[in-house]
Amino acid sequence: MPTEKKQKSSIWGGRFKTGPSDLMQEINASISFDKALYSEDIQCSKAHAEMLKQQNIITHEDFTAIQNGLNKIHSEISNGKFPFKVELEDIHMNIETRLAELIGEPAKRLHTARSRNDQVATDIRLYLRNQIDHLDDELKNLQKNLWKKAKENTQTLMPGYTHLQTAQPISFGFHLAAYIEMIGRDRQRFQDCRRRVNESPLGAGALAGTSFPIDRHLTAKLLGFERPMPNALDAVSSRDFALEFLSIASICAVHLSRLAEEIVIWSTDRFNFIRLSDEYTTGSSIMPQKKNPDAAELIRAKPGRIIGNFISLATILKGLPLAYSKDLQEDKEPLFDTQKSLSISIATMSGMIADMKINAVAMRSALQKGYPTATDLADYLVRNLEKPFRDAHHISGKIVALAEKKECALEKLELEEMQKIEPKLDESVYNVLKIDTAYNARASFGGTAPKEVKVRLAEIASRFNLADESN
Ligand code: ARG
Repeated sequence: MPTEKKQKSSIWGGRFKTGPSDLMQEINASISFDKALYSEDIQCSKAHAEMLKQQNIITHEDFTAIQNGLNKIHSEISNGKFPFKVELEDIHMNIETRLAELIGEPAKRLHTARSRNDQVATDIRLYLRNQIDHLDDELKNLQKNLWKKAKENTQTLMPGYTHLQTAQPISFGFHLAAYIEMIGRDRQRFQDCRRRVNESPLGAGALAGTSFPIDRHLTAKLLGFERPMPNALDAVSSRDFALEFLSIASICAVHLSRLAEEIVIWSTDRFNFIRLSDEYTTGSSIMPQKKNPDAAELIRAKPGRIIGNFISLATILKGLPLAYSKDLQEDKEPLFDTQKSLSISIATMSGMIADMKINAVAMRSALQKGYPTATDLADYLVRNLEKPFRDAHHISGKIVALAEKKECALEKLELEEMQKIEPKLDESVYNVLKIDTAYNARASFGGTAPKEVKVRLAEIASRFNLADESN
């Protein structure tokens, strides 16, 4: 079926006889999603116009008209009054065309010494810089909420697991503090990425610079960028800053997903370590007793799309020749989706952590069932009976097997029974079999003993500037 011929583009239609087909228009248009960049696009155009004026490339009058027109467009878009047109492809051409409607001739001078290629690269960098700052605020808030809960629970004993089998006694505060460190590294990675995002492609032109006497240092400065990018071809072609953002977001989402999974496990009726608030759970449409950890499950699932977005952009970029190809238009949706998914994951996790109630009794009783002091017994045999650690491990294992057979905790075994396994044992062994002794003893740097955790919590609070506002 022949498609209806459209009007030629008012922006680039000069060398064309007819307009694009419906399908061409549909596959080509990005306005449905890149309108999210309107604020950055206007910011970028204002800086460009300012520079054109200062370099005497446009007149002061043209500049003023452009500024006023762009301000009007900004308020039209933010008030939902802007007539977006799909035939104008993208946010850049929608804004430029509207500017011409509003101010006439001067609008046509705005694109002097600029291309959509450097324009879009600038817009994305401005967008990502903002979003990194926003994510950093949210991550800091999450760290603070974890920190408060950790501080309240440096004495709350729980089983530390390896293979999800009881390993050694730890405190709940110690466990949460591990996530404060992980989130801290995510924040550092985003900050590091921000330095590479914060460079200006504006003025690179289509790919090779321009013959106009522009001042790229000025536009970089006006937009708060660290410097203009030194190679015009690189400036319009590269998206490694975006890929880096997506990879860091993926790592961060993986961290949140691990915590989310623990929350799901801890809140089951088998574990019953924590209770989530009504605000972060949902009910079942059929089973009235249910209180499901949907928020945690969704955070657990988000890396599905967030890692997918990384793979998506990496695949788009792979094998792409320099400089601009339309493939690059496909960079936006992965970025927007990752930003949205990660941001809501962090904020929801923060709320869930702040609201959750800890069941210290259930944590302690789970700990008692798992022979968590077996390592301490082996260490005792090394220290007090001078056994080699491997032999000590073996003896301790036999004593655990005995307790298992008798279905009792290690400290409930009679001394005589243990002496049948290791005759040199005496009463002092009971000190190490006690959970509280075992856990207080792990006071090595970074260990779980409450006094050590308190020192580390104070240190991390100052490292990440959490304490002043958290105390
Ligand atoms: N909408 C385009 C994008 O997002 C803008 C750049 C278009 N450049 C071009 N040479 N066709 O990538």
